[in-house]
Amino acid sequence: MRNVAIIGCGVIGLTTATAIQDEYKSAVRVTIFADKFSPNTTSDIAAGLWGPYIMQDTESEKLDHDYFLHLWKSGYASEAGISLHLVKKLSRECEDSLDYPNIVYGGHRIPEKQLQELSGRHKKEYKSGCTFVSFICEPKIFLPFLQKRFLANGGMIIGVQIDDFAELSDFDLIVNCTGLGSKAITKDALMTPIRGQVARVHAPWLFHTIQDDENYVVTNHTSIVLGGTEQMGDTDMNPRKSDTDTILKCAYNFVPALKNAPLLFQTVGLRPGRNQVRLEREIRNINGKNMHIIHNYGHGGGGVTLSYGCALEVLELIKEVFPNKSKL
Ligand SMILES: Cc1cc2nc3c(=O)[nH]c(=O)nc-3n(C[C@H](O)[C@H](O)[C@H](O)COP(=O)(O)OP(=O)(O)OC[C@H]3O[C@@H](n4cnc5c(N)ncnc54)[C@H](O)[C@@H]3O)c2cc1C
Ligand SMILES: *[C@@H]1O[C@H](CO)[C@@H](O)[C@H](O)[C@H]1NC(C)=O
Ligand SMILES: *[C@@H]1O[C@H](CO)[C@@H](O)[C@H](O)[C@H]1NC(C)=O
Ligand SMILES: *[C@@H]1O[C@H](CO)[C@@H](O)[C@H](O)[C@H]1NC(C)=O
Ligand SMILES: *[C@@H]1O[C@H](CO)[C@@H](O)[C@H](O)[C@H]1NC(C)=O
Repeated sequence: MRNVAIIGCGVIGLTTATAIQDEYKSAVRVTIFADKFSPNTTSDIAAGLWGPYIMQDTESEKLDHDYFLHLWKSGYASEAGISLHLVKKLSRECEDSLDYPNIVYGGHRIPEKQLQELSGRHKKEYKSGCTFVSFICEPKIFLPFLQKRFLANGGMIIGVQIDDFAELSDFDLIVNCTGLGSKAITKDALMTPIRGQVARVHAPWLFHTIQDDENYVVTNHTSIVLGGTEQMGDTDMNPRKSDTDTILKCAYNFVPALKNAPLLFQTVGLRPGRNQVRLEREIRNINGKNMHIIHNYGHGGGGVTLSYGCALEVLELIKEVFPNKSKL
């Protein structure tokens, strides 16, 4: 029996923890240490749209929605908070979002004439656009779902802030899934908070998601998410009136029908920004013991999207430490 410690109980920590349990079953005991839990993590703020979004240089190989598809097909949609939505994605860049057609459904490029029409209506100059069907995974439902599964599989969750890896020196391996982390800014110079303010409105009659380089309107049957800001290095957790005004103005521009939708609440989350996800294994000598640490953080604006692909990569790295399952 090997003992694995995961630091972090956001979407990254929980997906990694359950993936390890699924792979190693009773051969590995997994314990999660975290100081924040759903509904208080950054992950809970995410709209949960599956699609590459502020990933910076993170490779697209880490995109994987098989897990959502598996849950969807197995009838867990409601319990896991997963739904399929129609998405319209527009961009000022000539980017080719349909480069990931194997992972989103029914992708179509928006014809030039319609792009010009939308550019006029949104007062932007779009160079590319597409429509597709993709998953939305509502973190406020998904995280408790994973947490329940994790505990049912024999996992342990401990509410504590970890200041030093030495506190976990009894474990055979540590996976660092701390997101922005409390001390991230000082310890990893590449980590930058990217502030995201969003508004939620009641509009149960809207059934499609729209997204461009700056703004989005993401469907959810109880409250539509209007977003959002992308403020680098800004750590103000209070919603700001100037941002609210911009968000609402852009959303009404996207979907004029939203004008009278009641504003329910507003939230701010700090995305764990990094030039790319840090996903690597390190051996560190802690109190004379060589500890294996796997880092899995810095998912920026795409943590829900990247969670499963990254968990699979963590499994590959763990195989280098625990080479043969049947010998544990
Ligand atoms: C407004 C907004 C909209 C978004 N929309 C989307 C979207 O539509 N799709 C998408 O894919 N992504 C989206 N994101 C991005 C997504 O929310 C993040 O990428 C994701 O939540 C990162 O997950 P995480 O588990 O790494 O971090 P977190 O959710 O922040 O979890 C970190 C965990 O680590 C713990 N921790 C940290 N430091 C310590 C410590 N020292 N000791 C103990 N525990 C510690 C915390 O307590 C917490 O449990 C959005 C983000 C924002 C802000
Ligand atoms: C979330 O935060 C609130 C306010 O600080 C706290 O009362 C609540 O217990 C927290 N929830 C969890 C599950 O940690
Ligand atoms: C919609 O959003 C609200 C507010 O965050 C959340 O409580 C609810 O679970 C979401 N519903 C679905 C089905 O995603
Ligand atoms: C764990 O990750 C955080 C980023 O969230 C980083 O600041 C910290 O240095 C990492 N811990 C170690 C021991 O590398
Ligand atoms: C793992 O161990 C089992 C039993 O000892 C053996 O049959 C199998 O070939 C090993 N696999 C690898 C990849 O080494």
